[in-house]
Amino acid sequence: MQGRDSLILEKTIDYVKQELHGIESGHDWFHIQRVLTNTNMLLEFEKGDPLVCQLAALLHDIADSKFHSGNEEIGPLKAKAFLESMNINAESIEHVTSIIRNMSFSSSFSMPTFDSPEYRIVQDADRLDAIGAIGIARAFNYGGYKNREIYNPEIQVQEINTSEDYKSNADPTINHFYVKLLKLKDKMNTKTARSIAEKRHAFMQAFLDQFYQEWSGKA
Ligand code: ADP
Ligand code: NI
Repeated sequence: MQGRDSLILEKTIDYVKQELHGIESGHDWFHIQRVLTNTNMLLEFEKGDPLVCQLAALLHDIADSKFHSGNEEIGPLKAKAFLESMNINAESIEHVTSIIRNMSFSSSFSMPTFDSPEYRIVQDADRLDAIGAIGIARAFNYGGYKNREIYNPEIQVQEINTSEDYKSNADPTINHFYVKLLKLKDKMNTKTARSIAEKRHAFMQAFLDQFYQEWSGKA
């Protein structure tokens, strides 16, 4: 990596750490760090501009709409303002901002408006952190943060087809596995992420099997 790029990344890391201080632990600096690690791992096998991918990974949750009264523009705008202060070329800034604007799971309910190899890599990196052992931990942490039930056998999984329904859904956390987490394996964009997702998906499936066993009093 060129010296200038690593300096940009270092400054971005400092900015993100500072901005995410005290945020819900499933969306904190360590989530960003894991998404960056996943991004670098995917870049070993998939083609994409490393700096664009790394900046998008670092800035993708800089102002998640969930923590900003549903406002989906704050994140991309904040990222843009930060990147403009860093003397990065306009084309890369536009690219990173477009990735951030289109990355969330809730935006996947409408027709995609943007695509690029870098977008595919960073979206996969974020989605890999939503599944497997870490995905389970994050889901229950978010459920606890929202004071949701862990599980309620009387509340059936809802068929969710719109971003509005997805965002307003307050069902138990176990239901979130069926609404989102178990669907991610087949939504991965890259071959590399798809193969990693297989193992993490199987782990969630095993977790759910054991969960229902224990719920019904079995070993
Ligand atoms: P994205 O950031 O891709 O839009 P979300 O913000 O909806 O996706 O979800 C990010 C993570 O937050 C999920 O992977 C999950 O861990 C947690 N989460 C979001 N919604 C719920 C929910 N209803 N129940 C439990 N966990 C949730
Ligand atoms: Ni994220």
